[in-house]
Amino acid sequence: MSWRYLAVASEAVLRAGRLQRERYASGVAVEYKGEIDLVTEVDRACELTILETIRGRYPDHDIVTEETDLGHTGSRFVWYIDPLDGTVNFAHSYPCFCASVALARDGEIVAGAVYDPTRDELFTGERGGGARLNGRPLRVSGAASLIESLLITGFPYDLHQRLDERLRLVYRVMGKARAVRRDGSAALDLCYVAAGRADGFFEEILKPWDMHAGRLILEEAGGTVTRLDGTPLGLGPDGIVGTNGLIQEALVSALREEKPALVE
Ligand code: IPD
Ligand code: CA
Ligand code: CA
Repeated sequence: MSWRYLAVASEAVLRAGRLQRERYASGVAVEYKGEIDLVTEVDRACELTILETIRGRYPDHDIVTEETDLGHTGSRFVWYIDPLDGTVNFAHSYPCFCASVALARDGEIVAGAVYDPTRDELFTGERGGGARLNGRPLRVSGAASLIESLLITGFPYDLHQRLDERLRLVYRVMGKARAVRRDGSAALDLCYVAAGRADGFFEEILKPWDMHAGRLILEEAGGTVTRLDGTPLGLGPDGIVGTNGLIQEALVSALREEKPALVE
């Protein structure tokens, strides 16, 4: 049954991605939700397209979407929508952004789709049915230690206000991993770990729409996803560590290690 939901999630992200591709690099109007937290007209147009796709099939399902508070009816089914993940990249014509849609049934994510229109890559995951990239099965990497690992991270938009605190985690692993990247799209970051292009991802605080599709895709590709302290991740906003599984314990414990302050 989840394949039906996955088909709708895929159609929704493909439609949003088409809009992103048409408008990419053409200059878009930007509004500010915060000093460095942007929303563009394309975020809103993508949200409308995705809502239309989901509501056309499932008018009774609840929807949690980034740009609009839609309330809850108490449905067993809840969709999580990030219409444009990587908005800052998009606004700068930096080609790393996507649309992300996930569905939870009875509190468990059962389907997720993430589409990167610049590379025409559709990542999908179905609970118990595996993860795919453009239809081909995905598998995580075999890196077994942090020193062999390429990690990805990201930072929340309160970075300027809490710089020392927000840099703490990256400081703890920077000297242990082979490399640490900051790409600017959490949904794609998780998919890249699922595809074995990176070995682990962590971020101190993410919203449900940033991570639920990517996290299912990563789990279905054989990876492990937990909260920052290694305990199970729920459906609310939270910190996340997602890896190929082999380095999960090492990454969780490195992220918890107290180090001397960065700046005295
Ligand atoms: C952001 C991106 C970024 C992550 C931020 C998210 P947005 O989402 O996923 O990589 O570091 O925490 O808020 O605002 O581009 O949808
Ligand atoms: Ca996002
Ligand atoms: Ca977004």
